[in-house]
Amino acid sequence: MVDKVDFAACYGLWAVVAGASEGIGATYAEALAGRGLNIVLVARRAELLRSRSSELSTKYNVDTKILAIDLASSNAIEQIAENTKDVEVGLLVYNAAFSAIGPFLERPLEDHIKEINTNAFTPLRLIYHFAGQMLARGRGGIVLMSSLSAFQGSAYISTYAATKAFNIVLAEGLWEEWRERGVDVLVCVSGAVKTPNYVASEPEQTGGLGDMTIDPDQVVREALNALGKGPYVIPGRMNRISSFFMRHLLPRKTAVKLMGRILREMYLKER
Ligand SMILES: NC(=O)c1ccc[n+]([C@@H]2O[C@H](COP(=O)([O-])OP(=O)(O)OC[C@H]3O[C@@H](n4cnc5c(N)ncnc54)[C@H](OP(=O)(O)O)[C@@H]3O)[C@@H](O)[C@H]2O)c1
Repeated sequence: MVDKVDFAACYGLWAVVAGASEGIGATYAEALAGRGLNIVLVARRAELLRSRSSELSTKYNVDTKILAIDLASSNAIEQIAENTKDVEVGLLVYNAAFSAIGPFLERPLEDHIKEINTNAFTPLRLIYHFAGQMLARGRGGIVLMSSLSAFQGSAYISTYAATKAFNIVLAEGLWEEWRERGVDVLVCVSGAVKTPNYVASEPEQTGGLGDMTIDPDQVVREALNALGKGPYVIPGRMNRISSFFMRHLLPRKTAVKLMGRILREMYLKER
């Protein structure tokens, strides 16, 4: 059981959750409100944000703000900075992502650039904006979402996986830079999660591995429990085992080929 008072003392008063309208991000927002933090909910769909926001303030008696913006756009950071200048942000959770699935050249170049903007450029700029304030206070936290696809090259989601590798390496470096200055950095390296977006991508079940999908609740619970204890967490025991196998037992070339086979089976079955 997490101590609500301790958590709020380390990471309050406000958390910014980028990508908070549904799935894992909405679950983060709820879990953080349950720990007593006020929440800035960021995503594109204003209506969904409004209903999440009123749920949180009614259920947990916390303050909320909503920001309906596109995190892929170049001025996303200015809008977030402007709308949070009057509150103390002690926790940044960057959850939003864009994933363009398919053979690399069959996706327009704009999709690959959008992946870089949504998954790497905007989180980098948000960290740059908020971390200075956290370090000055000597307390705070940053959580980035990554993916098991980032541990090696992942065919058919190559750019997505590369952006997620950026998040892992960035978070680990910043964890080491700031761990003795009161600011905890964590990257949550997740396997498949039953979110609306994942279900909408209609993945085929991959033969050998069975159903390894986990729930957003488990991802968020394990991530928030790991915050302040180390630079990264892999939620789910089966995901930890399979990632150990992929990273430490298989030659890297074999891991890349195996990942390619899994993704082909999941998304390119008909070819
Ligand atoms: N689901 C999985 O299987 C899985 C596996 C490994 C890692 N992850 C990682 O976990 C995180 C969450 O994944 P998810 O499946 O819950 O869903 P997601 O579709 O990647 O993102 C969900 C949230 O982000 C918001 N969002 C997406 N693009 C945005 C943009 N350009 N501007 C503003 N908001 C944006 C969405 O809201 P709006 O549409 O309202 O903007 C939604 O609230 C991602 O970082 C993903 O890479 C997921």
